[in-house]
Amino acid sequence: MVERVAEIQKQAEAEISAASSSAALEELRVQYLGRKAELPQLLRDVAGLPPEQRGEAGRTANEARQALEAMIEGAAARFQATEMSAALAEDNVDITLPGSPVEAVGHHHLLSATRREIEDVFCGLGYTVVEGPEIETVHYNFDALNHAPAHPARARSDTFYIEGGGEGPDETLLRTHTSPMQIRIMEQTPPPIALIVPGRVFRRDSDATHTPQFHQIEGLLVDEGVTLADLKGTLLAFARAIFGADRELRLRPHFFPFTEPSVEVDVSCFMCQQGAAPDGERCSLCKGTGWLEVLGSGMVDPNVFAAVSEHGYDPDTHQGFAFGLGIERIAMLKHGVPDLRFFYENDLRFLRQFG
Ligand code: PHE
Repeated sequence: MVERVAEIQKQAEAEISAASSSAALEELRVQYLGRKAELPQLLRDVAGLPPEQRGEAGRTANEARQALEAMIEGAAARFQATEMSAALAEDNVDITLPGSPVEAVGHHHLLSATRREIEDVFCGLGYTVVEGPEIETVHYNFDALNHAPAHPARARSDTFYIEGGGEGPDETLLRTHTSPMQIRIMEQTPPPIALIVPGRVFRRDSDATHTPQFHQIEGLLVDEGVTLADLKGTLLAFARAIFGADRELRLRPHFFPFTEPSVEVDVSCFMCQQGAAPDGERCSLCKGTGWLEVLGSGMVDPNVFAAVSEHGYDPDTHQGFAFGLGIERIAMLKHGVPDLRFFYENDLRFLRQFG
Protein backbone atom coordinates (compact mmCIF):
# COMPACT_ATOMS: atom_id res chain seq x y z
CA MET A 1 0.00 0.00 0.00
CA VAL A 2 2.84 2.27 0.81
CA GLU A 3 4.12 2.07 -2.77
CA ARG A 4 0.66 2.65 -4.19
CA VAL A 5 0.28 5.78 -2.05
CA ALA A 6 3.64 7.05 -3.33
CA GLU A 7 2.54 6.46 -6.91
CA ILE A 8 -0.74 8.27 -6.44
CA GLN A 9 1.03 11.18 -4.74
CA LYS A 10 3.58 11.48 -7.55
CA GLN A 11 0.95 11.44 -10.26
CA ALA A 12 -1.30 13.89 -8.39
CA GLU A 13 1.56 16.30 -7.77
CA ALA A 14 2.47 16.28 -11.45
CA GLU A 15 -1.09 17.02 -12.49
CA ILE A 16 -1.58 19.71 -9.85
CA SER A 17 1.55 21.57 -10.97
CA ALA A 18 0.31 21.41 -14.57
CA ALA A 19 -3.20 22.70 -13.73
CA SER A 20 -4.00 26.04 -15.39
CA SER A 21 -7.07 27.28 -13.53
CA SER A 22 -8.87 27.00 -10.24
CA ALA A 23 -11.62 25.05 -12.02
CA ALA A 24 -9.03 22.46 -13.14
CA LEU A 25 -7.69 22.30 -9.56
CA GLU A 26 -11.16 21.66 -8.22
CA GLU A 27 -11.50 18.72 -10.58
CA LEU A 28 -8.18 17.29 -9.38
CA ARG A 29 -9.24 17.72 -5.77
CA VAL A 30 -12.36 15.64 -6.42
CA GLN A 31 -10.37 13.13 -8.45
CA TYR A 32 -7.66 12.54 -5.80
CA LEU A 33 -9.23 13.50 -2.48
CA GLY A 34 -12.97 13.18 -3.08
CA ARG A 35 -15.09 10.60 -1.31
CA LYS A 36 -14.78 8.06 -4.12
CA ALA A 37 -11.09 8.69 -4.78
CA GLU A 38 -8.47 6.02 -4.30
CA LEU A 39 -6.34 7.67 -1.62
CA PRO A 40 -9.14 8.23 0.91
CA GLN A 41 -10.26 4.68 0.17
CA LEU A 42 -6.78 3.41 1.01
CA LEU A 43 -6.91 5.40 4.24
CA ARG A 44 -10.16 3.74 5.14
CA ASP A 45 -8.63 0.34 4.30
CA VAL A 46 -5.82 0.88 6.83
CA ALA A 47 -8.08 -0.37 9.59
CA GLY A 48 -8.25 -3.75 7.85
CA LEU A 49 -4.47 -4.22 7.63
CA PRO A 50 -2.50 -6.44 9.97
CA PRO A 51 -1.66 -4.41 13.11
CA GLU A 52 2.09 -4.22 12.40
CA GLN A 53 1.49 -2.63 9.00
CA ARG A 54 -1.15 -0.12 10.10
CA GLY A 55 1.21 2.44 11.61
CA GLU A 56 3.40 3.04 8.56
CA ALA A 57 0.60 2.69 6.01
CA GLY A 58 -1.68 5.05 7.92
CA ARG A 59 1.04 7.66 8.35
CA THR A 60 2.16 7.48 4.74
CA ALA A 61 -1.36 7.79 3.36
CA ASN A 62 -2.25 10.56 5.76
CA GLU A 63 0.88 12.55 4.95
CA ALA A 64 0.23 12.09 1.25
CA ARG A 65 -3.30 13.38 1.66
CA GLN A 66 -2.18 16.40 3.66
CA ALA A 67 0.60 17.16 1.21
CA LEU A 68 -1.84 17.08 -1.73
CA GLU A 69 -4.40 19.20 0.13
CA ALA A 70 -1.75 21.80 0.91
CA MET A 71 -0.51 21.80 -2.64
CA ILE A 72 -3.97 22.27 -4.11
CA GLU A 73 -4.75 25.03 -1.63
CA GLY A 74 -1.51 26.88 -2.43
CA ALA A 75 -2.10 26.66 -6.17
CA ALA A 76 -5.75 27.69 -5.78
CA ALA A 77 -4.78 30.79 -3.80
CA ARG A 78 -2.41 31.88 -6.58
CA PHE A 79 -5.08 31.33 -9.24
CA GLN A 80 -7.70 33.16 -7.25
CA ALA A 81 -5.58 36.30 -7.08
CA THR A 82 -4.87 36.44 -10.81
CA GLU A 83 -8.37 35.31 -11.80
CA MET A 84 -9.91 37.97 -9.57
CA SER A 85 -7.91 40.79 -11.10
CA ALA A 86 -8.64 39.49 -14.62
CA ALA A 87 -12.35 39.37 -13.82
CA LEU A 88 -12.27 42.88 -12.38
CA ALA A 89 -10.43 44.22 -15.38
CA GLU A 90 -12.92 42.64 -17.77
CA ASP A 91 -15.94 43.60 -15.75
CA ASN A 92 -14.92 47.18 -15.07
CA VAL A 93 -17.85 49.57 -15.12
CA ASP A 94 -17.27 53.32 -15.41
CA ILE A 95 -19.81 54.56 -12.90
CA THR A 96 -19.19 58.15 -13.98
CA LEU A 97 -20.73 57.52 -17.41
CA PRO A 98 -24.32 58.72 -17.89
CA GLY A 99 -27.12 56.19 -18.04
CA SER A 100 -28.05 54.81 -21.41
CA PRO A 101 -29.77 55.80 -23.59
CA VAL A 102 -29.28 59.49 -22.81
CA GLU A 103 -32.32 61.52 -23.79
CA ALA A 104 -31.69 65.24 -24.24
CA VAL A 105 -34.34 67.15 -22.31
CA GLY A 106 -35.23 70.12 -24.50
CA HIS A 107 -32.74 72.72 -25.67
CA HIS A 108 -32.10 76.42 -25.35
CA HIS A 109 -34.63 78.85 -26.75
CA LEU A 110 -33.22 80.58 -29.82
CA LEU A 111 -32.94 83.84 -27.87
CA SER A 112 -30.93 82.22 -25.07
CA ALA A 113 -28.73 80.42 -27.59
CA THR A 114 -28.12 83.71 -29.44
CA ARG A 115 -27.36 85.58 -26.21
CA ARG A 116 -24.84 82.91 -25.22
CA GLU A 117 -23.27 82.95 -28.66
CA ILE A 118 -22.77 86.73 -28.47
CA GLU A 119 -21.49 86.49 -24.89
CA ASP A 120 -18.93 83.92 -26.03
CA VAL A 121 -17.61 86.29 -28.69
CA PHE A 122 -17.11 89.15 -26.23
CA CYS A 123 -15.75 86.93 -23.46
CA GLY A 124 -13.19 85.81 -26.02
CA LEU A 125 -12.25 89.49 -26.48
CA GLY A 126 -11.73 89.89 -22.71
CA TYR A 127 -15.11 91.34 -21.76
CA THR A 128 -16.94 90.48 -18.54
CA VAL A 129 -20.69 89.75 -18.46
CA VAL A 130 -22.80 91.60 -15.87
CA GLU A 131 -26.53 92.06 -15.38
CA GLY A 132 -28.58 94.92 -13.95
CA PRO A 133 -32.05 95.80 -12.65
CA GLU A 134 -35.06 95.79 -14.98
CA ILE A 135 -36.76 98.45 -12.85
CA GLU A 136 -34.73 101.61 -13.17
CA THR A 137 -34.99 105.24 -12.17
CA VAL A 138 -35.36 108.22 -14.48
CA HIS A 139 -31.89 109.23 -13.29
CA TYR A 140 -30.14 106.09 -14.58
CA ASN A 141 -32.35 105.48 -17.61
CA PHE A 142 -32.34 109.07 -18.93
CA ASP A 143 -30.74 111.89 -16.88
CA ALA A 144 -27.27 110.45 -16.28
CA LEU A 145 -27.24 109.30 -19.90
CA ASN A 146 -27.51 112.90 -21.07
CA HIS A 147 -31.09 112.79 -22.35
CA ALA A 148 -32.49 116.26 -22.90
CA PRO A 149 -35.52 117.10 -20.70
CA ALA A 150 -37.81 116.87 -23.73
CA HIS A 151 -36.36 113.68 -25.24
CA PRO A 152 -39.27 111.73 -26.77
CA ALA A 153 -38.38 108.43 -25.06
CA ARG A 154 -39.24 110.06 -21.73
CA ALA A 155 -42.88 110.41 -22.86
CA ARG A 156 -45.53 108.48 -20.92
CA SER A 157 -46.74 107.11 -24.25
CA ASP A 158 -43.37 105.49 -25.01
CA THR A 159 -42.20 104.17 -21.66
CA PHE A 160 -43.73 102.08 -18.85
CA TYR A 161 -43.60 104.13 -15.66
CA ILE A 162 -44.35 102.38 -12.37
CA GLU A 163 -47.49 103.65 -10.68
CA GLY A 164 -46.68 105.41 -7.42
CA GLY A 165 -43.00 104.99 -8.26
CA GLY A 166 -41.54 108.25 -6.98
CA GLU A 167 -40.94 111.56 -8.65
CA GLY A 168 -38.38 113.49 -10.64
CA PRO A 169 -35.05 111.67 -11.12
CA ASP A 170 -36.10 108.98 -8.62
CA GLU A 171 -39.26 108.04 -10.47
CA THR A 172 -39.18 104.35 -11.38
CA LEU A 173 -39.83 102.79 -14.76
CA LEU A 174 -39.19 99.60 -16.71
CA ARG A 175 -35.82 100.28 -18.31
CA THR A 176 -36.13 101.15 -21.99
CA HIS A 177 -32.59 100.00 -22.78
CA THR A 178 -29.61 98.35 -21.08
CA SER A 179 -27.63 101.61 -21.21
CA PRO A 180 -28.41 102.60 -17.55
CA MET A 181 -25.91 99.88 -16.64
CA GLN A 182 -23.19 102.03 -18.22
CA ILE A 183 -23.64 104.43 -15.31
CA ARG A 184 -24.06 101.77 -12.63
CA ILE A 185 -20.92 99.94 -13.78
CA MET A 186 -18.82 103.11 -13.80
CA GLU A 187 -20.08 104.03 -10.32
CA GLN A 188 -18.82 100.70 -9.06
CA THR A 189 -15.70 99.99 -11.11
CA PRO A 190 -12.79 102.34 -11.85
CA PRO A 191 -11.36 102.36 -15.39
CA PRO A 192 -10.18 100.50 -17.41
CA ILE A 193 -13.32 98.41 -17.95
CA ALA A 194 -14.74 96.17 -20.68
CA LEU A 195 -18.17 94.71 -20.03
CA ILE A 196 -21.29 93.52 -21.73
CA VAL A 197 -24.76 93.59 -20.19
CA PRO A 198 -27.44 91.25 -21.54
CA GLY A 199 -30.99 91.83 -20.34
CA ARG A 200 -34.67 92.51 -20.87
CA VAL A 201 -35.88 95.96 -21.87
CA PHE A 202 -39.38 97.41 -22.24
CA ARG A 203 -41.08 99.86 -24.58
CA ARG A 204 -44.69 100.67 -25.36
CA ASP A 205 -44.63 99.21 -28.86
CA SER A 206 -46.31 96.22 -30.47
CA ASP A 207 -46.29 95.01 -34.09
CA ALA A 208 -44.47 92.47 -36.31
CA THR A 209 -41.09 94.02 -35.57
CA HIS A 210 -41.72 95.40 -32.06
CA THR A 211 -42.81 93.70 -28.83
CA PRO A 212 -43.32 95.49 -25.47
CA GLN A 213 -40.51 93.39 -24.08
CA PHE A 214 -37.32 92.44 -25.88
CA HIS A 215 -33.65 91.80 -25.17
CA GLN A 216 -30.54 93.85 -25.62
CA ILE A 217 -26.85 93.44 -25.04
CA GLU A 218 -25.04 96.59 -23.98
CA GLY A 219 -21.29 96.91 -24.41
CA LEU A 220 -19.00 99.39 -22.68
CA LEU A 221 -15.24 99.78 -22.88
CA VAL A 222 -13.40 102.64 -21.17
CA ASP A 223 -9.65 103.19 -21.07
CA GLU A 224 -7.14 105.84 -22.14
CA GLY A 225 -6.42 106.36 -25.82
CA VAL A 226 -9.56 104.61 -27.09
CA THR A 227 -10.67 105.69 -30.58
CA LEU A 228 -13.48 105.05 -33.04
CA ALA A 229 -11.08 102.66 -34.81
CA ASP A 230 -11.13 100.44 -31.70
CA LEU A 231 -14.92 100.48 -31.79
CA LYS A 232 -14.95 99.50 -35.45
CA GLY A 233 -12.36 96.73 -35.00
CA THR A 234 -14.25 95.28 -32.05
CA LEU A 235 -17.59 95.29 -33.83
CA LEU A 236 -16.03 93.85 -36.98
CA ALA A 237 -14.71 90.92 -34.93
CA PHE A 238 -18.21 90.49 -33.49
CA ALA A 239 -19.92 90.68 -36.91
CA ARG A 240 -17.54 88.13 -38.44
CA ALA A 241 -17.91 85.74 -35.52
CA ILE A 242 -21.70 85.84 -35.73
CA PHE A 243 -22.43 86.33 -39.45
CA GLY A 244 -19.38 84.87 -41.19
CA ALA A 245 -15.68 85.56 -41.81
CA ASP A 246 -16.30 87.53 -45.03
CA ARG A 247 -18.44 90.27 -43.46
CA GLU A 248 -17.64 93.97 -43.72
CA LEU A 249 -18.94 96.84 -41.58
CA ARG A 250 -20.40 100.18 -42.49
CA LEU A 251 -20.76 103.00 -39.95
CA ARG A 252 -23.47 105.60 -40.55
CA PRO A 253 -23.67 108.84 -38.57
CA HIS A 254 -26.54 108.82 -36.08
CA PHE A 255 -27.57 110.38 -32.77
CA PHE A 256 -27.73 108.96 -29.26
CA PRO A 257 -27.74 111.31 -26.26
CA PHE A 258 -24.97 109.37 -24.48
CA THR A 259 -22.48 108.87 -27.33
CA GLU A 260 -20.64 111.44 -29.44
CA PRO A 261 -20.05 110.79 -32.23
CA SER A 262 -22.79 108.20 -32.59
CA VAL A 263 -23.04 105.65 -35.36
CA GLU A 264 -25.43 103.06 -36.60
CA VAL A 265 -23.62 99.94 -37.66
CA ASP A 266 -24.50 97.84 -40.69
CA VAL A 267 -23.01 94.48 -41.56
CA SER A 268 -22.70 93.39 -45.19
CA CYS A 269 -25.53 91.03 -46.17
CA PHE A 270 -24.60 87.37 -45.88
CA MET A 271 -27.45 86.18 -48.10
CA CYS A 272 -26.49 87.91 -51.32
CA GLN A 273 -23.73 89.67 -53.22
CA GLN A 274 -24.11 93.41 -52.76
CA GLY A 275 -27.87 93.29 -52.75
CA ALA A 276 -28.40 90.93 -55.70
CA ALA A 277 -29.51 87.42 -54.82
CA PRO A 278 -27.75 84.56 -56.70
CA ASP A 279 -30.74 84.34 -59.10
CA GLY A 280 -30.48 88.06 -59.89
CA GLU A 281 -33.61 88.90 -57.91
CA ARG A 282 -33.57 91.59 -55.23
CA CYS A 283 -32.28 90.04 -51.98
CA SER A 284 -35.17 89.53 -49.58
CA LEU A 285 -33.02 89.88 -46.46
CA CYS A 286 -31.29 93.21 -47.10
CA LYS A 287 -34.02 94.40 -49.50
CA GLY A 288 -31.39 94.86 -52.14
CA THR A 289 -29.31 97.34 -50.18
CA GLY A 290 -26.47 94.90 -49.46
CA TRP A 291 -26.38 95.97 -45.80
CA LEU A 292 -28.13 94.90 -42.62
CA GLU A 293 -28.51 97.30 -39.72
CA VAL A 294 -27.38 95.47 -36.59
CA LEU A 295 -26.76 97.92 -33.76
CA GLY A 296 -26.26 101.43 -32.41
CA SER A 297 -23.04 102.65 -30.90
CA GLY A 298 -20.61 105.50 -30.47
CA MET A 299 -17.88 107.05 -28.35
CA VAL A 300 -18.93 107.70 -24.75
CA ASP A 301 -20.13 111.32 -24.49
CA PRO A 302 -17.96 113.45 -22.13
CA ASN A 303 -21.19 114.44 -20.35
CA VAL A 304 -21.66 110.79 -19.36
CA PHE A 305 -18.16 110.69 -17.84
CA ALA A 306 -19.02 113.92 -16.02
CA ALA A 307 -21.97 112.14 -14.38
CA VAL A 308 -19.52 109.63 -12.85
CA SER A 309 -16.50 111.90 -12.42
CA GLU A 310 -16.32 111.27 -8.67
CA HIS A 311 -15.74 107.58 -9.43
CA GLY A 312 -12.46 108.07 -11.28
CA TYR A 313 -13.76 108.90 -14.76
CA ASP A 314 -12.29 112.05 -16.23
CA PRO A 315 -13.56 113.32 -19.62
CA ASP A 316 -10.08 114.78 -20.26
CA THR A 317 -8.18 111.51 -19.81
CA HIS A 318 -10.66 108.74 -20.53
CA GLN A 319 -12.30 107.68 -23.72
CA GLY A 320 -14.59 104.79 -24.33
CA PHE A 321 -17.07 103.30 -26.68
CA ALA A 322 -20.50 101.83 -26.07
CA PHE A 323 -22.83 99.78 -28.21
CA GLY A 324 -26.28 98.31 -27.85
CA LEU A 325 -27.73 95.50 -29.92
CA GLY A 326 -31.07 93.74 -29.98
CA ILE A 327 -30.77 89.99 -29.45
CA GLU A 328 -34.06 89.36 -31.28
CA ARG A 329 -32.82 91.35 -34.25
CA ILE A 330 -29.55 89.42 -34.48
CA ALA A 331 -31.42 86.10 -34.20
CA MET A 332 -34.00 87.14 -36.84
CA LEU A 333 -31.32 88.20 -39.29
CA LYS A 334 -29.13 85.18 -38.72
CA HIS A 335 -31.91 82.58 -38.89
CA GLY A 336 -34.37 84.28 -41.23
CA VAL A 337 -37.14 84.58 -38.63
CA PRO A 338 -39.86 86.68 -40.31
CA ASP A 339 -41.88 87.78 -37.27
CA LEU A 340 -40.61 88.89 -33.87
CA ARG A 341 -43.67 87.47 -32.15
CA PHE A 342 -42.63 83.87 -32.94
CA PHE A 343 -40.05 84.18 -30.15
CA TYR A 344 -42.75 84.55 -27.50
CA GLU A 345 -45.59 82.32 -28.72
CA ASN A 346 -43.89 79.13 -27.48
CA ASP A 347 -45.02 77.20 -30.54
CA LEU A 348 -42.84 74.09 -30.43
CA ARG A 349 -42.92 73.77 -34.22
CA PHE A 350 -41.01 77.04 -34.33
CA LEU A 351 -38.76 76.48 -31.31
CA ARG A 352 -37.68 72.96 -32.30
CA GLN A 353 -36.13 74.21 -35.51
CA PHE A 354 -33.34 75.68 -33.43
CA GLY A 355 -32.42 72.73 -31.20
N1 PHE B 1 -29.41 102.29 -25.94
C1 PHE B 1 -29.50 102.45 -27.37
C2 PHE B 1 -30.87 101.96 -27.82
O1 PHE B 1 -31.53 101.26 -27.10
C3 PHE B 1 -28.43 101.68 -28.09
C4 PHE B 1 -27.06 102.19 -27.82
C5 PHE B 1 -26.30 101.68 -26.78
C6 PHE B 1 -26.51 103.19 -28.62
C7 PHE B 1 -25.02 102.14 -26.56
C8 PHE B 1 -25.24 103.66 -28.40
C9 PHE B 1 -24.49 103.14 -27.37
O2 PHE B 1 -31.32 102.28 -28.91
